[in-house]
Amino acid sequence: MKLGVNIDHVATLRQARGTDYPDPLQAALLAIDAGADGITAHLREDRRHIQDRDMERLAWHARVTHLNMEMAASNEMIAICSQLSPQACCLVPEKREELTTEGGLDVAPHQVRLGSVVEKLTASGVRVSMFIDPDPAQIRASHAIGAPVVELHTGHYANLRGQARQQELIRIQEGAKLAADLGLIVHAGHGLTCDNTPDIAAIAEISELNIGHAIISDAVMVGLPQAIAAFRRAMAR
Ligand code: PXP
Repeated sequence: MKLGVNIDHVATLRQARGTDYPDPLQAALLAIDAGADGITAHLREDRRHIQDRDMERLAWHARVTHLNMEMAASNEMIAICSQLSPQACCLVPEKREELTTEGGLDVAPHQVRLGSVVEKLTASGVRVSMFIDPDPAQIRASHAIGAPVVELHTGHYANLRGQARQQELIRIQEGAKLAADLGLIVHAGHGLTCDNTPDIAAIAEISELNIGHAIISDAVMVGLPQAIAAFRRAMAR
């Protein structure tokens, strides 16, 4: 199972003071040295953390060989992504007032528009993933519009406790199976910590996890290589 390290919150720390440090690219290189399989960064419409220049430096650096650009399916982002042509992109919903991406993309009612976005990005050499809730209708719609990858939203699972979390875990397991049966590549991410990662990593159909906030938080305490190593152990548990 691959680990994509999301470095958005290195930029959050920088933007909090308007300094030129810490540098997300430096964090990306450290993460790669520590065994990350890929780097994920979200260029938000409001530019609250990652900036355009960060995305360019990540996309153009020879040692960043797998960059996953998270983005809204807006014309502005499609133009930037087509120009930078990262290896992958993940289409996410965006609301200005949200703290983080709160729900999955509603693909089902917007298949014509999202289908043409997938087509354009694919033509630019980008492998497109749809960030969706583990909902059969959203999985089928993502497949119908030709997206090769779905990333199942684990944020609700992470926030729930007890029986409710177990039920959400089952929904993710069943969603992953349906997606794989349809021939989709299955990723998962959001809200994952060392504690809640093992149950998600145990789902055979999931081939990649994208983890950010908890890794960067742990890195503040123990350093990025150690934080990544701890998540690797959690994934193997
Ligand atoms: N996957 C997607 C699509 C996301 O939007 C995010 C947050 O940027 C993540 C994974 C990582 O979530 P977290 O920061 O909670 O680990």
